[in-house]
Amino acid sequence: MHLQSGHGLDDVALVQAGAKSVVGIDYSQVAVRAAQRHADELGVACRYVAAAVPAVPLASASADLVYTGKGALVWMADLAGWAREVARLLRPSGHLFVYEAHPAVVLWTWDEDRPRIREDRDYFARDHVNDTFPARGAVERQWTLGEIVTTVAAAGMEILHLSEYPEPFWRSGGVAAAAWSGRLPNSFALLARRAQ
Ligand SMILES: C[S@@+](CC[C@H](N)C(=O)[O-])C[C@H]1O[C@@H](n2cnc3c(N)ncnc32)[C@H](O)[C@@H]1O
Repeated sequence: MHLQSGHGLDDVALVQAGAKSVVGIDYSQVAVRAAQRHADELGVACRYVAAAVPAVPLASASADLVYTGKGALVWMADLAGWAREVARLLRPSGHLFVYEAHPAVVLWTWDEDRPRIREDRDYFARDHVNDTFPARGAVERQWTLGEIVTTVAAAGMEILHLSEYPEPFWRSGGVAAAAWSGRLPNSFALLARRAQ
């Protein structure tokens, strides 16, 4: 199950990696229709449902794996509600995998000569206004890494793995930010398992 599945390209990869089938959830009808058309054209076992996370209209314990990320958690106003919904959707011992922008990326400038910290951002702020393509103008939620890990654990999932990476999950075309050159965290991966 892919929460906030967007264009669904990762779902094709999940099937190619061995998933029997993938259900993608996104509240954008446009994204859901495009992802379904794409999957059908490729003949991969992906099905898309239009719904607003964390209210997912699917049965409890119906997912072996819940995957989300690449710009998903910034849209969650209630992280505890999101984590409880993930735990509800997972079968006992099912896994949650999150691959997401590192919460610190809001601080990095896109200067190309050297990395700098933005004067107008705060790691511990509750939100900020995105001022870069493609989400320019959107108010994005901020969750610290500690909040994400603790919220997942509090919802009844055991943290199995947490890694931070220097590579961003996405690079704006034509930008070669020094903050992406390897010295700073730009993404993270978290693997957790629902209790029995
Ligand atoms: C940056 S995209 C990431 C999509 C996908 N994970 C990927 O890697 O391509 C964020 C997606 O979250 C969806 N979204 C935002 N808030 C949502 C919500 N509350 N419920 C469902 N989808 C939501 C948007 O429509 C968008 O497709």
